[in-house]
Amino acid sequence: MKSYRLLAMLLAGLCLGMPLQAGAQAARARSTAGVDLQARLKEVERDPKLLEAALKTGRAVAGVCDYCHGVGGNSPTPDVPNLASQIPVYNLEQLRQYAAGERKDTFMEGMIKVMNADEKVGMVLFYARQKVATKPPGNPILVAKGKDLYKKACQSCHGESGHGDDELARIAGQQPVYLNRALKRYRTGTGVRLDAAMAKSIKPMSDADIDALVAYMMSME
Ligand code: HEC
Ligand code: HEC
Repeated sequence: MKSYRLLAMLLAGLCLGMPLQAGAQAARARSTAGVDLQARLKEVERDPKLLEAALKTGRAVAGVCDYCHGVGGNSPTPDVPNLASQIPVYNLEQLRQYAAGERKDTFMEGMIKVMNADEKVGMVLFYARQKVATKPPGNPILVAKGKDLYKKACQSCHGESGHGDDELARIAGQQPVYLNRALKRYRTGTGVRLDAAMAKSIKPMSDADIDALVAYMMSME
């Protein structure tokens, strides 16, 4: 992954149409500062004209993200998350967390600095409208164990389908290495990714339980 991060960064600079000087980056970051992204999302969703423009912007932004997240947000690699069908409110909240240093990933933190508010809103709306590709079935024993654990510990929030809701993340069909890493980050609570509800649910789970949960979640359509 790391080896192509620089290339992706350059691509990002070119495709988002901004010069790579630090000054220009700072100006773009300022144009996002103070914008309530969730309020802007609601405003855009309510107005068909704004929505059409946002989807166009989102598609253009996605051209940069495709490099890692895959065409239409279906990631080609198991350690990079799908963005296809992801819940807009959740995705925007993750962008806020990266920007605020509450969720840590050096590359994504940098990537977000070069996006303005409407590019962020357009991107989440565009990806929400893309379909998640079906995965080949996993090991049936592991999937059955994962289903059982999911019903007991996860379904109350994430729902039977795992498709998410107005705010909660979609987890169905998500990439396995990414899921495994995310769950362990919540469990260890070192600050790379923190969430009280998730920490409480995942603390009792062993590594083997997490393997089973991941096998089940990636097999959910
Ligand atoms: C160089 C590869 C790369 C590129 C290019 C890239 N990303 Fe990412 N992205 C990642 C990785 C890896 C993660 C997972 C990081 C983590 O575990 O926190 C991620 C995570 C995310 C997440 C969080 C997803 C979730 O389910 O919580 C969002 C949202 C996101 N990226 C949006 C974007 C957008 C928008 C772009 C384009 C403007 C983009 N990314 C470009 C590699 C990339
Ligand atoms: C009390 C509600 C609740 C329960 C129970 C719960 N979750 Fe979550 N889950 C959340 C919330 C809220 C988030 C978003 C947290 C954040 O912003 O990082 C989340 C995020 C996640 C993510 C990250 C999604 C992504 O794209 O990165 C995964 C994976 C996940 N949950 C899996 C599980 C599993 C597996 C269980 C059961 C062991 C579980 N959750 C139980 C509320 C819950």
